[in-house]
Amino acid sequence: MGISEDNRHLEELDKKYIWHPFTQMKEWLDDKPVIISEGRDCFLKDVHGNWYLDGVSSLWVNIHGHGKIEIDDAVKDQIDKIAHSTMLGLSNVPAIRLAERLVRIVDQSLVGGRQSALNKVFYSDNGSTAVEVALKMAFQYWVHKGEKERVSFLSLKNGYHGDTLGAVSVGGVDIFHSVFGPLLFKTYKAPSPYCYRCECGEAHPGCDMECLKRMEETLIENSREIAAVIMEPLVQAAGGMIVSPPGYLKGVRDLCTKYGVLLIADEVATGFGRTGRMFACEHEEVVPDIICLSKGITGGYLPLAATVAKEEVYNAFLGEFKDLKTFFHGHSYTGNPLGCAAALACLDIFEREKTLEVLKPKIEMLESFLRDISSLDHVGDVRNRGMMAGIELVRDKETKGPYPWEEKIGWRVCYYAREKGVIIRPLGNVIVIMPPLSISLDNLERLLWIIREGIIKVAG
Ligand SMILES: Cc1ncc(COP(=O)(O)O)c(C=O)c1O
Repeated sequence: MGISEDNRHLEELDKKYIWHPFTQMKEWLDDKPVIISEGRDCFLKDVHGNWYLDGVSSLWVNIHGHGKIEIDDAVKDQIDKIAHSTMLGLSNVPAIRLAERLVRIVDQSLVGGRQSALNKVFYSDNGSTAVEVALKMAFQYWVHKGEKERVSFLSLKNGYHGDTLGAVSVGGVDIFHSVFGPLLFKTYKAPSPYCYRCECGEAHPGCDMECLKRMEETLIENSREIAAVIMEPLVQAAGGMIVSPPGYLKGVRDLCTKYGVLLIADEVATGFGRTGRMFACEHEEVVPDIICLSKGITGGYLPLAATVAKEEVYNAFLGEFKDLKTFFHGHSYTGNPLGCAAALACLDIFEREKTLEVLKPKIEMLESFLRDISSLDHVGDVRNRGMMAGIELVRDKETKGPYPWEEKIGWRVCYYAREKGVIIRPLGNVIVIMPPLSISLDNLERLLWIIREGIIKVAG
């Protein structure tokens, strides 16, 4: 069988057997799929030998590039020892070392090395499970404290925390979540800190953060029923790269403290350097009670997640065997040694390559590009925090009138980029820029240039 025939066969098999996530399969079946066979640095190679710039970090996970030798070696070394053993009733070497390391970097990042007591690491295997763990942990914490009426959560409009049902219950992106409404548990919703389209009808600055006041009103009325506030610190990522105004995150922390509810920071997207600091909470010196980590934790190599809790939360679960205070939750691949070995290597690279320091000129380049592109006719809003950026395209800049969802304006820009050798993925009308942190300035410039061209070609 020749190479092209082989590839055609792969395409047929894909279409015959695979159901792709977040994909209208009818369209997929009519399309020519890009089938990736290799990756190097910030590039992906398809089976035909075409190379693409990975402008979406393989869905926001890749940090140090593909085929990073140190991570490759760490995984290979670990596989020579053992690929997997269970954490239920046993432990493993890389999981222990990583837990200690994570607690240390969370401490350094969030409280400058002073003990934050965010020091108990519960492993799982993806962002959604990290969130499920946090929700169940928060709920059961209050049960043990004798506050069984705390059966709900407060979450944000436009929030996204994953696709499992607990995560969807605290989600707030209607287009993804509303169909599952009948299956979800009750939550309270606070407005999204989306200044470009403020739900409260205010304009920032000068609004005194009405969105926080509304959150407070909900807490005043219902805090006895609320186990925790869950939020994405600084950037509501999948909701459209919505960047909260300065002081908002700190304001939420203060409200949680004032009304005695836990704060769960979902740093699945923002963690591991994406916002320019190790964790987004660091920007506003906020220490949550529980933090959810995944995506970049392994440098984008393997599925792994960690839900890190304060000691006080953990202590509430201690008791005699017969007390049934155990946290009855766990997954088959919890604390997988290969994932933990990759994560340790990923953290070593952060230190050795000073990833966060070298990021600064890249963030400057991105911000200067965003300033420049904001003058285009159909660019309604540009926003970023570090290397997470969104460009919101609008039909009418004056009225902020959006393009109808079905016009797929975002996708059309992304298809254009793909023809030019760049992989990006939109969120509705928002073009997302989120390349690996290791991207070179030259490659970043190329990525931004092609996005600019795409927007001009498609939207004018
Ligand atoms: C903030 C946030 N939380 C949770 C998730 C879910 O992660 P996963 O897709 O690994 O389940 C995502 C995914 O994009 C996310 O952005």
